Amino acid sequence: MSKGEEKSGGVPRHLRISRPSDWVVRWAGLVKPKGTVLDVAAGGGRHARLFVDMGHSVTLIDRATEALSEFREHKHAEVIQADLEDGSPWQLGPLAGRRFDAVVVTNYLYRPIFENLIGCLEDGGVLIYETFARGNEAFARPRNPDHLLKSGELIERVSNKLQIVAYEHGLDETASCPGVISRICAIKDLGQGAREDLEPAPHDIS
Ligand SMILES: C[S@@+](CC[C@H](N)C(=O)[O-])C[C@H]1O[C@@H](n2cnc3c(N)ncnc32)[C@H](O)[C@@H]1O
Repeated sequence: MSKGEEKSGGVPRHLRISRPSDWVVRWAGLVKPKGTVLDVAAGGGRHARLFVDMGHSVTLIDRATEALSEFREHKHAEVIQADLEDGSPWQLGPLAGRRFDAVVVTNYLYRPIFENLIGCLEDGGVLIYETFARGNEAFARPRNPDHLLKSGELIERVSNKLQIVAYEHGLDETASCPGVISRICAIKDLGQGAREDLEPAPHDIS
């Protein structure tokens, strides 16, 4: 059980956190209007709620979808129950061939699907990723290195594939889920600029 899954009163900790991540809120504005958003390991849907409220259509995927009933009948939401770690969703499964204007991942790490996460971005699509990093084990769960990013790892993983708009790494005690955290916002527009050198257009970081 990871840090986000600690239970209190029978309710896993991650389902008791309804406040969206400040990092996701900060970069959500870069997603194109009325875009499509994939919320990976959506948990209680705190980020799906944010994007639906902003007018986007959201696909939520998680192996446990009991907490996502509010999205089941929502005309701008789609709930997929699937195991992200058995290879099925992107191969012959419900995400096969699909593309999104944004992919959002928070407090979840399964390294083998990283290429899938980047691969399912539309041109111009935004990856917003935030999860715990090495060093967090000194404070709290998750402590398993498989669930902890290395410093700079998010940069390496998107390097030469996405334009990095913002990156942070360090201890954040005021985050919705405090701990040692790595975060990135990156956009699939490398080499797509109108300029002669093909540099992508700058994004609004104010
Ligand atoms: C710590 S919670 C984070 C939830 C949400 N992203 C958030 O930040 O509020 C981790 C989520 O990953 C999901 N998860 C863990 N392993 C999974 C797997 N193999 N396939 C699909 N979902 C998985 C859990 O069900 C849980 O909802």
